[in-house]
Amino acid sequence: MSDNPKPQRYSSWTTGKLPLPELAEMKRRGDKIVMVTAYDAPSGRLADAAGVDLILVGDSSGMVVHGRESTVPVSLDEIVFMTQWVMRGAKRPIVIADMPFGSYEESDEQAVRNAVRLVKEGGADAVKLERGGTSVARARAIVGAGIAVMGHVGLTPQTATVLGGFKAQGRTAEQAVRLVEDALELEAAGCFAIVLEAVPPAVALAATRGLTVPTIGIGAGADTDGQVLVWHDMLGFYEGRSPRFVKRYAEIGDATVEALERYTEEVRSGAFPEEQHTYGMPEEERAAFEGDSVEPVVPGEMSREHDQHR
Ligand code: KIV
Repeated sequence: MSDNPKPQRYSSWTTGKLPLPELAEMKRRGDKIVMVTAYDAPSGRLADAAGVDLILVGDSSGMVVHGRESTVPVSLDEIVFMTQWVMRGAKRPIVIADMPFGSYEESDEQAVRNAVRLVKEGGADAVKLERGGTSVARARAIVGAGIAVMGHVGLTPQTATVLGGFKAQGRTAEQAVRLVEDALELEAAGCFAIVLEAVPPAVALAATRGLTVPTIGIGAGADTDGQVLVWHDMLGFYEGRSPRFVKRYAEIGDATVEALERYTEEVRSGAFPEEQHTYGMPEEERAAFEGDSVEPVVPGEMSREHDQHR
């Protein structure tokens, strides 16, 4: 058996970063592209270990990590910090930082300035922005500044209010045509891939066939060039209804509560910690410590010793 458990399906496979042009090659070959969101170093590392191709530092963090009602309040600083964390964990996947609401709408200059921050301070490999319309010019400006841009059409959560809520898009022929046109315009502006969110499969298929760059679907059926899911949705971090398009691949929320319940019980009963979780001390030192002549312990030294043993 090979020492390298990773699949060998990439023509330009290296142990380093997946090259961006490889995505178009994957579309051409019919190899599906796998994308997932991540928001910190451990999730970046785990996504990399699982062999995913793209990681999105999504503004979905506003809802799934920070407990907000929408993605709208997410700030650029938050995305910069989270991108730094993810970059420390993820080596091979291309890491895409979401441009949050309010960070690119005003002007091309604002869009370029903030995209540069995500790449320069956050370390992102690429950025993503939502919608067609005025976002097309913003995408063109950012690409012109030398930064790779991913587009996002269909349900665009940053402007969900004007779309009538978190609802599927492109369900009338007229809307479907507009949506595919938006995707084509974003491609013409230089986007390297387009996310299609919550659109009927027929619309996703038309966009996928019409574009030369890959489409990444979320609630867009099986015919897109790749798929993306939100970390907390797919891993079952919370109870209650998930969007229709979510498949839960694990029940991490349940597993976490179960573990915390056991911990709580064991702390209260005294079953934790056991001998194996404590640090030894030479017998004579303990005797001296417990005897009358003991020097007082300096608390700072104890915490330093603890840090060294983590
Ligand atoms: O912010 C996000 O996680 C996203 C995905 C749903 C594509 O935009």
